[in-house]
Amino acid sequence: EMRDTPRPKPALAASPLDLTIRPRRNRKAEWARRLVRENVLTTDDLIWPLFVVDGHNQRTAITSMPGVDRLSVDQAVRDAERAAKLNIPCLALFPYTEASLRDEHGSEAVNPDNLVCKSVRAIKKEFPDLGVLCDVALDPFTSHGHDGLIEDGRILNDETVAVLVRQALVQAEAGCDIIAPSDMMDGRVGAIREALDAAGFLDVQIMAYAAKYASAFYGPFRDAIGSAKTLTGDKRTYQMDSANSDEALREVELDIAEGADMVMVKPGMPYLDIVRRVKDAFAMPTFVYQVSGEYAMIAAAAGNGWIDGERAMMESLVAFKRAGADGILTYFAPQAAEKLRNQG
Ligand code: PBG
Repeated sequence: EMRDTPRPKPALAASPLDLTIRPRRNRKAEWARRLVRENVLTTDDLIWPLFVVDGHNQRTAITSMPGVDRLSVDQAVRDAERAAKLNIPCLALFPYTEASLRDEHGSEAVNPDNLVCKSVRAIKKEFPDLGVLCDVALDPFTSHGHDGLIEDGRILNDETVAVLVRQALVQAEAGCDIIAPSDMMDGRVGAIREALDAAGFLDVQIMAYAAKYASAFYGPFRDAIGSAKTLTGDKRTYQMDSANSDEALREVELDIAEGADMVMVKPGMPYLDIVRRVKDAFAMPTFVYQVSGEYAMIAAAAGNGWIDGERAMMESLVAFKRAGADGILTYFAPQAAEKLRNQG
């Protein structure tokens, strides 16, 4: 029968194509690939976000972020030590606020002894040379899970900015090195810069979440800080529409004019085009946030054995470099730093 009849094999030694240019020559061996490599990820590119929670000697798994824990302050200091040993330049801190401390106004955000401020002090005391970034927004502290104050179902801009300024000040007083407003209110970068300067914090940097999109990829983060269940509605009146990119340039331009030292695009992988446009347009230190949902997708697929997690991690991180990012906020920071160290 036809099916069982072996087909004749084509001759392997075909006559060579008349090609002058053969791009594969530059890929023929690892040393040759290294020689022509255009973008290189280093540990200097990494910012490691940590979640902190009240208590002592506690590490609680976050189900939707396999491999990431909520840490009590003492444990956050242990991770800071790990960061210092791995030579990761900077940490980012996010609090899981107890339900009893959340209210409509996010009052706990301006408490100089809140979890974030306590963590900053504890970390900077032991590791003064490690950079610490603090997120400025009200969502970890509000009972409704929004980044701003609400009146009649509307997010108030200017009233929110006034609270964010106070939040930034308590963080700076605690020793925070980089203030990172993630709230997307209009005018907050300028207001925070002015207040920091007036209070003498001339060296405290601002990394603006300048182009931050209303994204489904923040889901696991909202689990991590405990705002997923309480969030009413969505954040589309302040975070950007994912269909837009010219608007991202206008947002970035404003934040630079208001005094941002560094700008950020967020999320990461679905917005590489925005990273490239921002870097090309402004030549600013440009950061990208590989957010919780991006992490979760890679970690979950790897956990199921569907993809090679380590390779997917490194491929996603170098993609940010290729797009023009100067640095990456990523939950993979310690694994990536370990891998880079072992490569020598
Ligand atoms: C708070 C904030 C969010 C993230 C960083 N800061 C969530 C949100 O805007 O809803 C998301 C980070 C992540 O998903 O890893 N404004």
